[in-house]
Amino acid sequence: MAQYVVRGGNRLSGSVRVAGMTKNAGLKQMAAALLAPGTTTLRNVTPVVDLDVMMDLLRGIGAAVEWGADPGVLHVGVSEELQPEAPYELVSRMRASINVLGPLLARCGHARVAFPGGDNIGSRKLDMHFAALEAMGADLEVVHGFVEAKCNVLCGARVVLEFPSVGATETVLTTAVLAKGQTIIENAAREPEIGDLCDFLTEMGARINGAGSSTIEIEGVDEVHPVDHAIVGDRIEAGTLLMACGAAGGDISVEGIDLHHVEMVVRKLGEMGMTIEPTPDGLTARSDDPLRSVDVQTLPFPGFATDFMPLAVALLTRAEGTAIVTENIFDSRFAFVDELNRLGADIKTEGRHAVVRGVERLTGAPVHAHDVRAGAALVLAALGADGETVVHDPGHVDRGYADLPGKLRSLGAEVTRLE
Ligand code: EPU
Repeated sequence: MAQYVVRGGNRLSGSVRVAGMTKNAGLKQMAAALLAPGTTTLRNVTPVVDLDVMMDLLRGIGAAVEWGADPGVLHVGVSEELQPEAPYELVSRMRASINVLGPLLARCGHARVAFPGGDNIGSRKLDMHFAALEAMGADLEVVHGFVEAKCNVLCGARVVLEFPSVGATETVLTTAVLAKGQTIIENAAREPEIGDLCDFLTEMGARINGAGSSTIEIEGVDEVHPVDHAIVGDRIEAGTLLMACGAAGGDISVEGIDLHHVEMVVRKLGEMGMTIEPTPDGLTARSDDPLRSVDVQTLPFPGFATDFMPLAVALLTRAEGTAIVTENIFDSRFAFVDELNRLGADIKTEGRHAVVRGVERLTGAPVHAHDVRAGAALVLAALGADGETVVHDPGHVDRGYADLPGKLRSLGAEVTRLE
């Protein structure tokens, strides 16, 4: 079993460039590439573990997926004939597999995608995806664990999302591109990865207005063409590195990120006592003194992202005072706090709330990563803990970060991955 071994106590310094947002943006664009026969090229792609799952999935559907000669370049060759099926073995390993449903339905008129079910952070329903596809003229049924979708003609529709779901917005966008007439998404997600998907689809020839706002209008077109697109910088990795500086102390610069994509986390870290300044291509962060506790509640973008919540809790474990952290997006995202308590943190949870009382010090211990951000949170806590922490099952972290130990080492931290 692999492990991360973290020895706390080193201040961070130096400069680091964020990777492309492969897990939460690039994988969605790979799935959307199915809309256009021919070869789409994606740049700024990093080899996270979930990328392998999407590659296998697309190959099974009939695409040729290959790395290009230059680093970070991925080619997705999409054939005229597709096999519109996503098997359980792959869907159960990665929820972004559901992103093939819309493009397959639009291209083939039918699709069979394993129903993903819940995971370590909550129930993660798909009712909004399904209601939207039905409004556009599709018939959907869950049979033998598969979502079976079919349609004669997909027609544009007005889709009002009950909640600004990232996944449902992506499903509607990638279906509406080839539907007949106009689709309007009300209460659309505004996350930067939605903006990047809209840019990608627009470059393909889709007609989209309102990307980045709560109302997105899509005018269906007959066909779209392959493109060459560089995926957006990973705001979650950027926030992770900023918070690593808060956990360990130090003075770093994080390049390749747009301040607007991390504005709320920057504001919170400022309230906690860090100094964060914009640079032409990113941000600098400095943390010298003990941090102060602040309350945090997660909300859809531009609110404080749920993916930052475990990382923020890790910082708050040693901050001065008591913080109340409220998770509004997922219904069971606090399993990791028991692992932080093994390091000596004082955290109590009740439903969607956690009360984090700052302690003087954490001490290294063996802990277990439950999911990608929870694992990263344990690494951050370990950077500020006395002695050695061993994070077991870091495969979860590798799903979303290409090489978190390497990035942190480049800033002076002592983090190694043992196989
Ligand atoms: N929801 C429904 N019905 C639906 C769709 C969503 O009830 O039809 C609920 C979910 O159960 C959840 C909430 O709405 O409680 C938000 O779900 P959303 O659809 O916005 O999230 P997602 O698309 O499933 C993506 C990211 C998550 C990130 C969220 C929110 C990917 C692969 N996943 O999930 O990333 O937390 O958006 O920004 O892009 C992570 O990176 O660690 C991660 C979990």
